[in-house]
Amino acid sequence: MPVQRTLLGQPLALRMPPRRFQLLVVFVVLFIATVYAFGAPSADSIPTYEQVKDAVKDPHLPELPALSDIKDHIPKLPTELPELPNLPVPDIFSPPAHKPPDQANSTASSSYGAIRWLADFKWHIGFSQKVTLDENRAVLPPLAIRPPIYTYYEPKSKQDKKATQAENRLILAWRRAWWAQGFKPIVLNHKDAMGPQYEMVQRMKLEPSAELEFFRWLAWAKQGGGILANWLTLPMAQFDNPMISFLRRGEFPKLSRVESLQNGIFFGESAAVDNAIQEAINNKLLQDVPANKDKIAKLALQDGGIVVNLLSADVAVDKKANGLAYYNTDVVNNKYKTVRDKLSNTTHVEGLELLADLINSHLHLVFQETHPDGIAIVKPLPEHTTALTYNAIEIGRNLTQCPSSPMPNSCPPNRQKCKPCNPNKPLPFNLVPTFKNSTKLYSIGVVPHPYTLTLLHYTREDIDENFLIEAERDLWLKALTKELLGPNHSELFRVLFFKEEVASLRKASHSLWLTAERTTQADLEWIFGFNLPQSASPNKEPSSPSKDSELIIFPRPSEPKGTEGVEAEEERWIRKEEERLEKAREVLSQSHKAKKEDTVRAKVKQVEDWNLFDTEAWRFARAFSARRRNERKDWEEQEKRYSGSERKAGVKTGGGRWSDRFK
Ligand SMILES: *[C@@H]1O[C@H](CO)[C@@H](O)[C@H](O)[C@H]1NC(C)=O
Ligand SMILES: *[C@@H]1O[C@H](CO)[C@@H](O)[C@H](O)[C@H]1NC(C)=O
Ligand SMILES: *[C@@H]1O[C@H](CO)[C@@H](O)[C@H](O)[C@H]1NC(C)=O
Ligand SMILES: *[C@@H]1O[C@H](CO)[C@@H](O)[C@H](O)[C@H]1NC(C)=O
Ligand SMILES: *[C@@H]1O[C@H](CO)[C@@H](O)[C@H](O)[C@H]1NC(C)=O
Repeated sequence: MPVQRTLLGQPLALRMPPRRFQLLVVFVVLFIATVYAFGAPSADSIPTYEQVKDAVKDPHLPELPALSDIKDHIPKLPTELPELPNLPVPDIFSPPAHKPPDQANSTASSSYGAIRWLADFKWHIGFSQKVTLDENRAVLPPLAIRPPIYTYYEPKSKQDKKATQAENRLILAWRRAWWAQGFKPIVLNHKDAMGPQYEMVQRMKLEPSAELEFFRWLAWAKQGGGILANWLTLPMAQFDNPMISFLRRGEFPKLSRVESLQNGIFFGESAAVDNAIQEAINNKLLQDVPANKDKIAKLALQDGGIVVNLLSADVAVDKKANGLAYYNTDVVNNKYKTVRDKLSNTTHVEGLELLADLINSHLHLVFQETHPDGIAIVKPLPEHTTALTYNAIEIGRNLTQCPSSPMPNSCPPNRQKCKPCNPNKPLPFNLVPTFKNSTKLYSIGVVPHPYTLTLLHYTREDIDENFLIEAERDLWLKALTKELLGPNHSELFRVLFFKEEVASLRKASHSLWLTAERTTQADLEWIFGFNLPQSASPNKEPSSPSKDSELIIFPRPSEPKGTEGVEAEEERWIRKEEERLEKAREVLSQSHKAKKEDTVRAKVKQVEDWNLFDTEAWRFARAFSARRRNERKDWEEQEKRYSGSERKAGVKTGGGRWSDRFK
């Protein structure tokens, strides 16, 4: 009598499956082994269609039945093939893993479905899906921690509303510039300074400017030290400038200021700041302010401001810092006459606006100086992809335009030897077919979904399965990195290289990656740290936007020249491309709305599975930019009640093509 096996008391029927299933199982196992041998999804190469076809035709197994016997059990083999590499192969025989839990603020909506991501230190992987178990969730590096930088602002009492708004715009410029450099700029006010010491200082009846300086320090101390800057102190250097990198590290062994920047910036640990304040307040001079009025006024004028000069010894003075510019009254009076003349008169508000324009132009100039090789619009597969590059070219043209400024020939205060922008010698602006590895060049790339790219590259109106298996895989990524990485690297290597370019902190300051399907771009001024010129001279000469404006605007650079060695496309073919791009957007947007079994969705999925690495690159770039946007928006939401917020500065959000609209 056969042994009756039981499980939890229930009799268990162990029957061998029919022979044809046994064969199928054998085949599947062998097939997976083959996939492994070629290096499953994580390895260098996904088996090609030919390899799989050969494996099916000639499995090197004498006892395996003829292909025709198996065929019935592997329905429609060739058309299903694109899906095969996508199987998380090692998981087939083990229990399914749990999806990693959702993290806070890790989704964004878009016309192409929700964009989700997971921040993980192990983001250097070929396929996010292996970790997230969700094809729409990309693994991104953890958000870089932004060290706070504080400034203190209190509008003068009885100040004209317009002047306050103009000052808010200057503070907004300050916030953007520091945000772009990787900081979290925070604007403090008198409420942040309040406490017993605040009242003590108030009772001393100091001069307003000396009192203000004390309040700044008090507000800063309550935040626990760190960096305190004036809102006219801006980072005026490239991302990896030693001073700015030092500040970003957030470790300050000594309470310090910077030579020649007066009280423009201080940094130090909490305890050092507290001690300094205590010592300054205890200074004998402050016990009878009216009697020591002149002495105090003299101290307040010395470098570093009143608090520092009441100490028995100066704080440390950093002598080598060259990355910061402080636009205080002295600097403006001495160097920027046009602005000074407006500021020191009834035209104060206009003066503040011109100062904002001047600072913006200097930030833009520094960007141009840090990228002397100009702007490169990366356009892999240039023959049929012109329609993909419109947004990138628009941004590139404005970046290469000479900045609008009241004093176009002036230099930032910390870079007196700068080379002012010359409209007759514009920054190089080129279309390049492959990505270049240079920190002197700013690259703007447009990442297409493989469906979009397939339509455009093969000039097709639609994609069917039979066509797909003739298409080359991961075309975009290969073309992008062809020159830089050579022909012999795997797609895995290429996609990791790409992710690094998009996301690593330093490299990200030399390139911008857009996705081709998005029609609007947001937050550019937070990414660059300055406003791109929004108007241009109507002719070849510099001009002013209006008769009595002091602002000088420059002509808009022309479109970049075509890619070398590639014939310019005819207008009618470009129109066709635009139609195809629209079509692709349509299909992708439908596909996310459609049910799982819908044909549109299946079609898109097939293209994605055929181009696993291109898809991964697209998802990564998309999630990275969505997260950057979310981070920015969240933070603006938190800060909107404070000075320098977009709301207080009267900056409109929403509406318009280059608006905050994300979809
Ligand atoms: C998520 O967003 C909310 C506001 O939308 C914010 O208060 C919170 O700090 C954010 N969390 C993280 C982890 O960023
Ligand atoms: C103020 O402006 C008026 C006319 O706009 C000018 O005549 C005068 O010199 C200016 N004063 C100063 C101090 O710049
Ligand atoms: C890019 O350039 C940097 C510095 O010049 C170099 O260290 C790096 O190896 C280069 N990367 C590639 C992929 O060529
Ligand atoms: C790439 O591989 C081919 C064939 O293996 C070899 O001939 C060629 O030199 C390699 N190229 C590079 C740049 O390594
Ligand atoms: C570029 O400048 C033009 C005007 O010259 C403006 O209409 C457009 O909005 C600007 N684009 C960006 C991205 O700033």
